[in-house]
Amino acid sequence: MTEILSPTSSGLDRAATLLREGALVAFPTETVYGLGGDARSDRAVARIFEAKGRPSFNPLIVHVPDLAAAHGLVAFNDAAERLAGAFWPGPLTLVLPLRPDSRLSPLVSAGLPTAAVRVPAHPVAQALLRAFGGPVAAPSANPSGRISPTRADHVLAGLSGRIAAVVDGGACAVGLESTIVGFDPDPVLLRPGGVPAEALAACLGLPLRLPRIDAARPNAPGQLDSHYAPAARVTLNVAGRDGREGAVWIGFGPGAAGAELNLSPAGDLVEAAANLFHLLREADRMAGPEGSILVSSVPEKGLGRAINDRLRRAAAPR
Ligand code: TXA
Ligand code: MG
Repeated sequence: MTEILSPTSSGLDRAATLLREGALVAFPTETVYGLGGDARSDRAVARIFEAKGRPSFNPLIVHVPDLAAAHGLVAFNDAAERLAGAFWPGPLTLVLPLRPDSRLSPLVSAGLPTAAVRVPAHPVAQALLRAFGGPVAAPSANPSGRISPTRADHVLAGLSGRIAAVVDGGACAVGLESTIVGFDPDPVLLRPGGVPAEALAACLGLPLRLPRIDAARPNAPGQLDSHYAPAARVTLNVAGRDGREGAVWIGFGPGAAGAELNLSPAGDLVEAAANLFHLLREADRMAGPEGSILVSSVPEKGLGRAINDRLRRAAAPR
């Protein structure tokens, strides 16, 4: 049975105790719900891979409460310091060289010499990390390849009975995973996400490059094609229903009259990001496994880049 915990001090104490025992606890962050385990415990990290059914070559993000804790795990460069100063706590993950004294389980980084580190802004995530007092490895709390969870009931729909507990902190405000930046040694955008690429470029005074794609050795799940996948077939950039009567249409903006669902009737990208995963789940439920989902086009700027990245993966051939 998966315990449902409230984000009160007693609920968080229980969650921290479970983490100390090596059990898995899902918790809210401002991006999506994370599936947390003690990042120093091989057993806890192995359980994360098992619960998600995740390919073990895919390394995990380590969550810490502040920059000082991150300094204990990875070696920062100047650009990384600058990004952390500007965007932490918040929806940004930095991939940096592991420190030899980090004490992280090697399973967290899947044997790579780097680790992905993030300081979440959500008050419940912050309180849990402080109550636990150590680094927490946490991928999104969904079965591998499926839609990321932005509410506690999404977590339970995919992982109930497979994890010890979920802390219910309501709906996630950002709704898309963190932006991931690596260094080679110049900053590269490994995954578009909750911090728009334009904001990173403004902070660094230069645009971020995209990484070279190597399908045999993915850097981020963003580089695997099918991901965030509903059961129904997804068609993108539709301007109208055009006779597809049985399909469920997810619109964007005021022009999508006749759409069953709308990411943001006002055409606001922040609202659309927050609604994306919930509406994909709703559309999937309405369409059924043999059905089909249509999605209006979303502008390729700001959070729209991350929204389109997730939509392309939802529509990719399986
Ligand atoms: O918003 C988020 O980032 C959420 C919340 C829970 O924090 N987490 C999340 O984790 O999206 P996940 O595991 O679904 O995606 C993180 C991705 C991994 O799939 C992995 O490919 C990449 O980050 N990553 C982790 N460590 C890496 C490393 N050392 N080098 C390159 N990529 C890495
Ligand atoms: Mg994920």
